Order: sequence, then structure tokens, then C-alpha cells
Amino acid sequence: MQLTNYIRTIEDFPMGGISYKDITPLLMDPKASDFAVSELIKGLEGKPIDKVIGIESRGFLFGMLLAKELGVGFIPIRKPGKLPSETISQSYDLEYGSDTIEIHEDSIQKGERILLHDDLLATGGTASAACKLIEKLGGELVHINFIIELDFLEGRKLLPKAKVNSLLHY
Ligand code: PRP
Ligand code: MG
Repeated sequence: MQLTNYIRTIEDFPMGGISYKDITPLLMDPKASDFAVSELIKGLEGKPIDKVIGIESRGFLFGMLLAKELGVGFIPIRKPGKLPSETISQSYDLEYGSDTIEIHEDSIQKGERILLHDDLLATGGTASAACKLIEKLGGELVHINFIIELDFLEGRKLLPKAKVNSLLHY
């Protein structure tokens, strides 16, 4: 199966000059989604996982499917002010300004083996902030996977390279 057939490029969204990679065709096709999950699991090479963490919002979609497939719990990392209990936060730089993500401070038990998932790796700011949150809570980051990686933005440089696996590269 060719997963690129299920990714649509929308030019100039959300602003001029950006080629947006749209995963909604993939979401609409159950066989292609199953295939994506099995490929993401293969990339783990059998490493044991205790929890899957997905990053709001597109990281929730396959993050939860991965957790279900692995038979483990799912933890959301969310944009600020969305999680109801005690949280810890991590800010990261954007081209203009900064952004913040949060996680429930009681979500990870020390030493738990974590799979971090998001749909897309671009500059790496979001995923590297997520890694810092996992580290702060004492999780052991085992693997990070993405459906799509935008190679030219070199986001991988901000992450532990050996642990990163992306299904598609643009
Ligand atoms: C997109 C994408 C990743 C992030 C990658 O999310 O889903 O989470 O950007 O960018 P980076 O590597 O440069 O940090 P977005 O903020 O558009 O929000 P969404 O997932 O809620 O659509
Ligand atoms: Mg996102």
C-alpha cells in the first residue's frame, strides 16, 4: 500500500507559502489507517512500551490507535489551559513568538517506557518540548514516531535521532 496516496497537499494553508500536509484522506480510509498503524508499530522493533503519548490535536488520532494496538494507556499532551488537573508546562520557540504545551503531572509513573507520537515533524519544536515534559516526569522515552516528516526543516536535529521514525518524508 502506498501511504502517500492518502496524504493531500493543500498549498498556501494556513498562510501563503505553506504546503499543508493533510492526513484527512488517510483518516477516512480504514484499511490505509490500519496499514499506517502496523507500519508505525513495526518501527518500534519490538521495544516494550508502557504508555503512548499523543500531542494535541492531530497526534491524538493515531496516538490512541497505537495505544489500543499495543494494549497500553494513552496520555494526552495538550495546548495550555485544557487539562483539568495539575499540569506541568513547557514552552518552545516559534518563528515569531512562542508556544506552550502541558501534561498532567500524575500521568507518567517514574521509569515508564514511553512512545511519543505526533502526525508530523516540522521544525521539531513541539516534539522536543514534549520530550522535555516526559523527562521532567521521569518517563523513559523509548521511541518517537510520526506519519510525516518534513526533512528540509531538519526537526530531527532537536530530537534523539536514533529513536525517531517517520513513515513518509517530504
Ligand atoms: C502541527 C503538527 C505538529 C506540529 C509540528 O500541529 O500536527 O503537532 O505542527 O510542528 P513543529 O515540528 O514545527 O513543532 P499544529 O500546531 O498545526 O496543531 P494541530 O495538531 O492541532 O492541527
Ligand atoms: Mg499538531
